Amino acid sequence: MLDFGMNVAITGANGFVGRNVGAHLAKNGFTITGIARKAKDEKFPIILSEDLAEARLGNVIQNYDALIHLIGQGRQNVRDTYEKVNVSLTRNAVALCKRAGIKKIIYMSGLGVDKSTTLGYFISKYNAEQEIVKSGLDYTIFRASYIVGKDDPLSKTLREQIRKRKIIIPGSGNYRFQPIFVGDVSEIIGKAIVEKRFSNKIIDLVGPQIINYNLFVKKFLHGRNVPIQRLDFEDAYHDALHGKGSFGVDDLAIMAGDYIGSHKKLASLAKMKFIRWDEILKSGSLS
Ligand SMILES: NC(=O)c1ccc[n+]([C@@H]2O[C@H](COP(=O)([O-])OP(=O)(O)OC[C@H]3O[C@@H](n4cnc5c(N)ncnc54)[C@H](OP(=O)(O)O)[C@@H]3O)[C@@H](O)[C@H]2O)c1
Repeated sequence: MLDFGMNVAITGANGFVGRNVGAHLAKNGFTITGIARKAKDEKFPIILSEDLAEARLGNVIQNYDALIHLIGQGRQNVRDTYEKVNVSLTRNAVALCKRAGIKKIIYMSGLGVDKSTTLGYFISKYNAEQEIVKSGLDYTIFRASYIVGKDDPLSKTLREQIRKRKIIIPGSGNYRFQPIFVGDVSEIIGKAIVEKRFSNKIIDLVGPQIINYNLFVKKFLHGRNVPIQRLDFEDAYHDALHGKGSFGVDDLAIMAGDYIGSHKKLASLAKMKFIRWDEILKSGSLS
């Protein structure tokens, strides 16, 4: 239990991470105000905003202790480009903190982001990180691997493929990732708000288990007999580029990127116990 009685605002509050983090922090004594484009039935109040630039927002969250910025997207389109959603709205989040007198910002970037990246999605995340690093605010930036929990997008995709009785594995399936439980992500975000050792740091947010996609799928199936189709990467890209299939162009690039971070480093900073992905699976909360 954290229980610090602080006021915290969350952008992207209706998203998968936002609603879980918000509910967890609200349960643990934080006063949470979500910021979103639509009012939904969350476990905390939501104020509406299209782009975080509305003048009234600053008054509502005046002098809050922290802002958790979770607006983001991993598939761009002509209207909502990475530059617009990931970079400009981060700039607006920083400006909102300054207007409202909020000194601490927490941002969710992606594992694999760094200044030498050539992937459009990662470039936008890197530029968003830079908006925050250069802002003068106290920041904690997390570079997350796949965050898993009830209704996470990857588990949803797999459940849908199971329903249609065809699991698709793009490429070899040997690329790895480090799933991290959304409950642990919520806990660590709570710590990052209150504990000084998280100040002005960029941290890989990776779970205790490195797992390749083949094994991930096998375990997810729990012995269920669902045909697996191995899809050549070229075909997977073809489908993605034509708006078909379960994976977007950048999802495939990230899979092929085989990005791995140091869980040991995270664990020694966070000083908490993380749940392993197969324990989450066993609890039945994903599949
Ligand atoms: N989930 C993961 O495994 C993972 C891994 C690495 C990094 N991240 C990052 O963590 C953050 C949260 O991820 P998530 O899984 O919660 O994503 P999500 O479920 O897609 O939620 C993203 C949120 O961003 C908001 N948003 C998107 N475009 C917007 C726009 N043009 N204007 C205003 N709001 C907009 C959405 O609002 P609406 O609800 O109104 O659509 C939604 O609430 C994102 O920045 C993501 O890149 C996530």
